[in-house]
Amino acid sequence: MNLKDVLHMKEGDGEFSYAHNCTIQEKIFSGVNKPMVERALRSLLLNDTIRQSRILNVADLGCSIGPSPINLISLVSKTVESTSKELNLEDDQVPEIQMYMNDLPTNDFNLLFKTVGTMQVLEHGTTSSCFVVGVPGSFYGRLLPRNSVHFVHSNYALQWLSKVPQSVYDEVGNSMNKESITISESSPPNVVKAYKAQFQQDSKLFLGCRSSEVVPNGYMLLALKGSPSIHPQLSCTSRLLYRALSNLVSKGLIKENVLESFDMPLYFPAKEEIQSAITEEGSFEIEKMEGIVNHAAKEIENKQTKAETIAKTIRAFSETLVSLHFGENIWNVLFDELAQVTLKHLEVAPVDGFSIIILLKKKLCIETSSRI
Ligand SMILES: C[S@@+](CC[C@H](N)C(=O)[O-])C[C@H]1O[C@@H](n2cnc3c(N)ncnc32)[C@H](O)[C@@H]1O
Repeated sequence: MNLKDVLHMKEGDGEFSYAHNCTIQEKIFSGVNKPMVERALRSLLLNDTIRQSRILNVADLGCSIGPSPINLISLVSKTVESTSKELNLEDDQVPEIQMYMNDLPTNDFNLLFKTVGTMQVLEHGTTSSCFVVGVPGSFYGRLLPRNSVHFVHSNYALQWLSKVPQSVYDEVGNSMNKESITISESSPPNVVKAYKAQFQQDSKLFLGCRSSEVVPNGYMLLALKGSPSIHPQLSCTSRLLYRALSNLVSKGLIKENVLESFDMPLYFPAKEEIQSAITEEGSFEIEKMEGIVNHAAKEIENKQTKAETIAKTIRAFSETLVSLHFGENIWNVLFDELAQVTLKHLEVAPVDGFSIIILLKKKLCIETSSRI
């Protein structure tokens, strides 16, 4: 199975869809990314090259569906409009916006474009014109023409690796990461090493591809789920999913060896690991980097409702891969188990996560050998 042919967040706009269960990602976008996006766009609009070409090319990588990609399109349009007013630009001097919406081919692009079609900012003929296109494909490869993109945005997508590293499996194909579904405190050192190496390899590939596509002095804002420490630690949501699956093993509903062979292509890096990939690849400099702790469904008082909301969030991102491994019917029992395990966890602690947000600027001169 090739991950890039199957991975997608839960499609549609139903109760369990990603579109309705992505509050954390949406909060990161509105609370943290927004001011950094505005800052980068303003700086780009003050730049003569864009004013002369009158085109601003923006890419949202791993856009999925739901509020974040829609809010990004709206924010870019509004920022171009307000900055152009400040600069007293005539209508025909205001840059037109080309938005590239990227995700893997099985993303629910139909729903994305149905929602985009209803956006008022896209009524052309207003001060700033914005044109939106879909770019299906993996961001671990080239997506756009050389030297064409001014601003790249990617929210909560880069924690997805291109694959589960091959060396997690022994010579007969059994997983050596038995007591977890991503790396954890109890993962064997060779498994930890394999996941870390995969992250370094993927992130350098990502940066190399973007280095070819982004113009000199262009910006890139990356927000992803990370880890507060360089030491292997199972994330809270992965732990809850693993516990729920283990309970189904105890109830005889899943075979132990089937659970033991389930590994997710997720890696939550520490700031230092991202920093070292950026430095080693060499095309971008870090303008700003921050890490923040977030508590899932913080605004919900009732613990039962909170637990169900968090269980829906976990289901929205993991459903496809879990169904492929255990069969779709597993969700008839897994969702309630997950909600119960989450409720139990909430009796003692919040469901917390750690986000890392980085604003990068493409260097003016880079070694041409690093181009892809
Ligand atoms: C958690 S969602 C985030 C979606 C959206 N950016 C948001 O803020 O709500 C991660 C998205 O990244 C996409 N993704 C994962 N790996 C990818 C890859 N290699 N290339 C493109 N998209 C990828 C997934 O399909 C998914 O839609």
